[in-house]
Amino acid sequence: MLAMQSLRGAVKHAGSGPRLLFAVRHVSSSSQHFGRARPLSCTDTDQPKVLITGGLGQLGVGLAKLLRRRFGKNNVILSDIRKPPNHVYHSGPFIFSDILDYKNLREIVVNNNISWLVHYSAVLSAVGESNVALAKEVNITGLHNILDIATEHGLRVFVPSTIGAFGPSSPRDPTPELCVQRPRTIYGVSKVHAELMGEYYHHRYALDFRCLRYPGIISADSQPGGGTTDYAVQIFHSAVKTGDFECNLRSDTRLPMMYIDDCLRATLEILEAPAESLLSRTYNINAMSFTPQDLTQEIQKALPDLKVTYNVDPVRQAIADGWPMALEDSAARRDWGWKHEYDLSELVRTMLSHIATSNQLAQAS
Ligand SMILES: NC(=O)c1ccc[n+]([C@@H]2O[C@H](COP(=O)([O-])OP(=O)(O)OC[C@H]3O[C@@H](n4cnc5c(N)ncnc54)[C@H](O)[C@@H]3O)[C@@H](O)[C@H]2O)c1
Repeated sequence: MLAMQSLRGAVKHAGSGPRLLFAVRHVSSSSQHFGRARPLSCTDTDQPKVLITGGLGQLGVGLAKLLRRRFGKNNVILSDIRKPPNHVYHSGPFIFSDILDYKNLREIVVNNNISWLVHYSAVLSAVGESNVALAKEVNITGLHNILDIATEHGLRVFVPSTIGAFGPSSPRDPTPELCVQRPRTIYGVSKVHAELMGEYYHHRYALDFRCLRYPGIISADSQPGGGTTDYAVQIFHSAVKTGDFECNLRSDTRLPMMYIDDCLRATLEILEAPAESLLSRTYNINAMSFTPQDLTQEIQKALPDLKVTYNVDPVRQAIADGWPMALEDSAARRDWGWKHEYDLSELVRTMLSHIATSNQLAQAS
């Protein structure tokens, strides 16, 4: 059962596409809230219908896999502007969706009866600094389209924010939920904008907006998309393949990080959390913090021959120097039971074993 909706709104066709003119109010019914103890089911038709935008990046394919296990394969649609690799195309519904095309996005939501929208499309921090115009368009104009469509159709919408939404004037160790946010990257500015716009739409139009500030995410199967924490993924692949790694951040740069399984589980948990448990609509989540030197030492316990050299990229280093070292996440732990499972040693053990297994599979095929 979808949320009861009382339409007070209308849309007009203007500029790049139809726009929300008035508020669309929806009143959640309790049947839309799926408790955490709910068993996995692939047959239930009374499930949310989820659209993931920007789904071919580092996080989307893994999230689709997790959500499909929970809600059924055909209830989760992955979308992007790029062509998917074969294994992704054959793993479940995939469609083209450009978040800058409002009309196309609305058509997808209507035709597929979408009830939850996970908005992953973005231009990340390092890439954003090299193409500010693109970052503005995708991260700000695209976000406006998402919020308008979600409001117009009474969707639950999840938008990830980031440690990049803080800046040099924020307290850094740990960074509280509420503090000064003056980032100095277009990525950070656009994510603060997303947090504020989402919360504003929640208060103004009762949009069911949910947001987590992700730390740097580490994954074995998917490549990062041009962020400042990318080194923490690349070092594992280099450690296994060549034994040499050139790090583009200083050895003592401490940043908050999280293994992808924790990140995706947190995303599912906040999506499923009863609305009344969410005292906030934007939460910090934290797992571990480490420097390149800490990570190198931990990997060297398994691969002692790993050699790391440093060739600092001034753009990335300046970004990292203004970011939190750790996030204060007691509100998420209190309101919806957030708990990380991976610490540094578990992360390293898991990453090395995943990469070794995929290399063996690649060699065997
Ligand atoms: N990966 C991390 O460490 C991390 C950390 C904090 C927050 N996040 C956030 O999580 C989300 C997903 O991150 P990711 O690492 O998978 O990003 P990514 O850069 O790997 O992927 C982003 C995807 O967006 C797509 N995209 C770009 N322009 C688009 C458009 N106009 N329409 C539709 N899709 C478009 C790209 O093709 C790409 O597949 C982002 O919002 C990011 O800001 C990620």
